[in-house]
Amino acid sequence: MRTVDIIAKKRDGHELGRAEIDFIIRGYTNGDVADYQMAALLMAIYLRGMSSEETVALTEAMLHSGEIVDFSELGRPRVDKHSTGGVGDKTSLVIAPVVAAAGVLVPMISGRALAHSGGTLDKLESIPGFRTDLSLAEFRSTLEKVGAALIGQTAEIAPADKKLYALRDVTATVACRPLMAASIMSKKMAEGASGLVLDVKTGSGAFLKNENEARELGRIMISIARGLNKECLVLITDMNQPLGRAVGNSLELIEAIETLKGQGPEDFNCLCRELSAEMLVMGGVAADSEAGRRAYDKLISSAAALAKMREIIKAQSGDARVLDNYDLLPRAGQKRELLSSESGYVQVIDTEAIGHASMLLGAGRARLDTEIDLGVGLTIHSRIGDKVERNSPLVTIHFNDADRMEESANDIRSAYKIGPDPVEPPQLIKAVLR
Ligand code: URA
Repeated sequence: MRTVDIIAKKRDGHELGRAEIDFIIRGYTNGDVADYQMAALLMAIYLRGMSSEETVALTEAMLHSGEIVDFSELGRPRVDKHSTGGVGDKTSLVIAPVVAAAGVLVPMISGRALAHSGGTLDKLESIPGFRTDLSLAEFRSTLEKVGAALIGQTAEIAPADKKLYALRDVTATVACRPLMAASIMSKKMAEGASGLVLDVKTGSGAFLKNENEARELGRIMISIARGLNKECLVLITDMNQPLGRAVGNSLELIEAIETLKGQGPEDFNCLCRELSAEMLVMGGVAADSEAGRRAYDKLISSAAALAKMREIIKAQSGDARVLDNYDLLPRAGQKRELLSSESGYVQVIDTEAIGHASMLLGAGRARLDTEIDLGVGLTIHSRIGDKVERNSPLVTIHFNDADRMEESANDIRSAYKIGPDPVEPPQLIKAVLR
């Protein structure tokens, strides 16, 4: 088999066989297939698509690129959640401690910032000392001791996704259903969870803008999970505006901590509550979704979830004093308020442009070797349906580089559409697929 023939086959719109997909993934993981060849194949897949058989074969090849962890000997349910990516989506930072505090194990393998969307790993690395690169043995022992462990793809677990994820990020090949399904499910099926709650986002800030496409992705992922004997549930949720108020790594971490303290923004808290409730049901500690929501409220109001977050941070070598002192986190040197140029109601926020604006400031990567600025980002003051006056603040930009700030401000200005008519804010939870 030759890599170039496989690229040409997909370029010409033909279906790849399982042996060809295995050959490519094995070769890319061990370095025989070059980045430039894989980039060409990714673009061919992006343009030509993949059948469901190809998607399953790709997922399995990526899953088997590393070890598959088995935590069944821990004797407790292990439930994780994953999001398809959005702007301001820091739910993992709240959900992991909440669910672990209820006694369900949360083995979580997360990603870094991808295109305009943020990544849990980068947000966690805002915490001085926090290690997301635990070895498999450390992952297991932290999970056993604390009840949750949050790491990235490693040389041991789903290494193919680690390389492909970074390459897709810089080759405009993220928003592709088979690639997303294989990326998410390969690492999630490898991490030793018995059940998985998926948050599939749709809207202007999601990779899949159209709700039907999001539902289709949800169904593909449920069928992959079932094929591997795992429980799986999908929430289709809105991403037509940033989630919560904070966008950018340490700003989002602060918002997550505030939420653990019971002071989070309503929409963000609501999504954390819904996702946690389903995880608690799947983990067998809540009888139904309503009981799960009540448990969430109690874990927040009793500060049990906050205490669990402290344990997680300490176990992963982070400085847990950040929970009480946000000055210990990386912060941007300067701030600028962007004001509305007219009065009216916020009609639309192009949320991908908002994510892009944050990335331009340095919160995400434009190239494989870009270093992230953990302190920069945005505070969103005005959301869809809000009434704004001329000169009232839309967004605060937290920045370190004035040129980048100007570029980012232009993106934000064009992202907001303000008009005279009142509008209803979008519904946050659009559907549940079981
Ligand atoms: N999250 C992932 O892990 N992979 C994707 O492709 C998109 C979101």
